[in-house]
Formats: sequence, structure tokens, C-alpha cells
Amino acid sequence: MIIIGFMGSGKTTIAKHLQDHMFKEVIDLDDEIKVLAGKSIKEIFADDGEESFRKLEYQALTKYLSEDVIISTGGGIISYDQSYELLNSQKQHKIFFLNAPFDNLYDRIQNDTNRPLGNQSRQKVLDLYLSRLDRYKGVADYEISTEETIESSVNEILSYID
Ligand code: S3P
Repeated sequence: MIIIGFMGSGKTTIAKHLQDHMFKEVIDLDDEIKVLAGKSIKEIFADDGEESFRKLEYQALTKYLSEDVIISTGGGIISYDQSYELLNSQKQHKIFFLNAPFDNLYDRIQNDTNRPLGNQSRQKVLDLYLSRLDRYKGVADYEISTEETIESSVNEILSYID
């Protein structure tokens, strides 16, 4: 299973809940990238730029794609063509797109200084969200609302898997 969605959509939290139900390991690609780079995401963006971050993200995705795990991605994975194409062409995992109205997402991320691309003006973050929507929807097998409770989103996801 692969979980995608914009920053603040609940990917990490929901993946942890799914782990308890599915007894599968969760791989959080942001955590993997930190290990690969030996520094925080904020530092990678500041020192090396977004392109370097995206390459590490692609590398981490490639590493775990063949494993039977729950892969929780970072919100921008689909913005990098190579990662997007890989997600589109792989057959091993079902892809779940977590989504909520933009204002909910923005409320959840606006004060978090650890997300370089989320810590910008509302308009900039909205533009980013809108620019990514088609790709999230295009690559996803299922779209799950995370507007209500975590439990309801988790139950909906579980209803789609055997
Ligand atoms: C990013 C989202 C972040 C993280 C990085 C870039 C993005 O992950 O990968 O800050 O481009 O949307 P979360 O979606 O887990 O916050």
C-alpha cells in the first residue's frame, strides 16, 4: 500500500493506525530521506535545494517499492516526474490519496516550520496544492477523505483491501 496526499492530509498518522490493523511495517519516506542525507528535511532544502531532496525521495521510493510494506510518502513526491512515472507504472501496491478541503490542510500545517514548502503564504501553498491535484488523482486507486475522524478514514481504507 502507498499513501499519498498533500502536507497535512494525515498520511503519517493514518499509516500508523493502519500498521496496527494490517500488521505491516510502515516506511515513512521522509524519515528514510533524513537517514540517507544525514540531516533534516529543512536542512536538505536549505543546503542542497529541492531537486536534491526529490532525488533522495525517488531513491527511497525505489528501495521499498518491491516490499510488502505500507509506504507513507511526502506530499510532493508526485511533483517529481521520475517518482510520478514510477508510481503510475508500478502494479505491486494500491495507492490511496488522502484529501481534505484545502483550509483544513492549511490549518494543520501553517505553523509548522519544519515543512519548507508549507511554511509560506496561504496563496502560495494553495497554488502548490492546486498544481498537484491532477497528479494525485491520476495516480491514485482510491481517494479517501480525511476531513472527519481518523477512525473513519482508516475504516474506509481497510474496506478496500482484502
Ligand atoms: C513536501 C512534503 C513533506 C516533505 C517535504 C516536502 C512537499 O512531507 O516531504 O517537506 O513537497 O509537499 P509531508 O507531506 O509528510 O509533510
